[in-house]
Amino acid sequence: MLPKPSDWVTFYANVKRKVNLDLDLYKANQLQRRIVSMAEQKDCKSLDQFWTWISLSPANMEWFLDRLAINVSELFRNPEKWREMEAKILPELLKKSSRLKIWSAGCSYGAEAHTLAAILDHKFSGSHKIIGTDIDTAALNQAKAGTFGPTDFKAVPKEYAQYFHAKGSDYTADPRLKKYLEFRKGNLLADRFDTGFDLIMCRNVVIYFTEEAKADLYKKFFQALKPGGILFVGSTERIFKADEIGYQTVLPFYYKKPLLGEKSWRNAS
Ligand SMILES: C[S@@+](CC[C@H](N)C(=O)[O-])C[C@H]1O[C@@H](n2cnc3c(N)ncnc32)[C@H](O)[C@@H]1O
Repeated sequence: MLPKPSDWVTFYANVKRKVNLDLDLYKANQLQRRIVSMAEQKDCKSLDQFWTWISLSPANMEWFLDRLAINVSELFRNPEKWREMEAKILPELLKKSSRLKIWSAGCSYGAEAHTLAAILDHKFSGSHKIIGTDIDTAALNQAKAGTFGPTDFKAVPKEYAQYFHAKGSDYTADPRLKKYLEFRKGNLLADRFDTGFDLIMCRNVVIYFTEEAKADLYKKFFQALKPGGILFVGSTERIFKADEIGYQTVLPFYYKKPLLGEKSWRNAS
């Protein structure tokens, strides 16, 4: 199948009208390759036919949306960053607030949120809340169930193994983690954001977004953070011109919204 530009315009407009997802904000090459491959799996000969199939039932729509976004994840993904989280970032945040409000934005099936819940419970137990959001309903259902596959577990440090119980070749999160976690549907490219976050984690999500969408998102995260709050991004996602938005880089891939009265690097002379 080789859709024409006008076929894509119609397809994108249909998706936007039906589920308020603006596909123009995703990198076109990757996305279109994925959509064509999905259409071919359903034996559709054109995007128009594929849209007809998608519109047949809510289940078909869900099948399409779930495959649109790649949700690869892992517990303790990039373990060295989680060691910094435990040793430097969380102690600093807890000096300012005893009940942390945290957002795992683009949480997929909840590995990142469960990782942080395990660290909090083990080292900084308290009434903290981690809200995980994603557009992928199937991934969110798995996050709510707290189940993980064998490859998710391979980077879990020894002292945290107690939080993930082997069940055949899979793993289930320990019930102690439940009280920290809440998962709900959310579209980073369309929703109004909640505010007052101590920590926002958005890792390996924006790689699919256009440069403009990325820049807008980082500005919206800045507004959603408390002064002194931290944005934690993926290990290939250094924010270009972070200081222009107002962030201070505290460690690679950790960005801080300065405290009131504290100069951001941009304003420091
Ligand atoms: C590769 S996973 C990242 C999971 C986790 N943050 C990590 O780093 O391990 C990317 C996730 O972004 C989600 N995503 C893509 N576009 C989104 C959007 N517009 N709003 C919310 N989530 C989105 C996908 O559904 C997918 O679960």
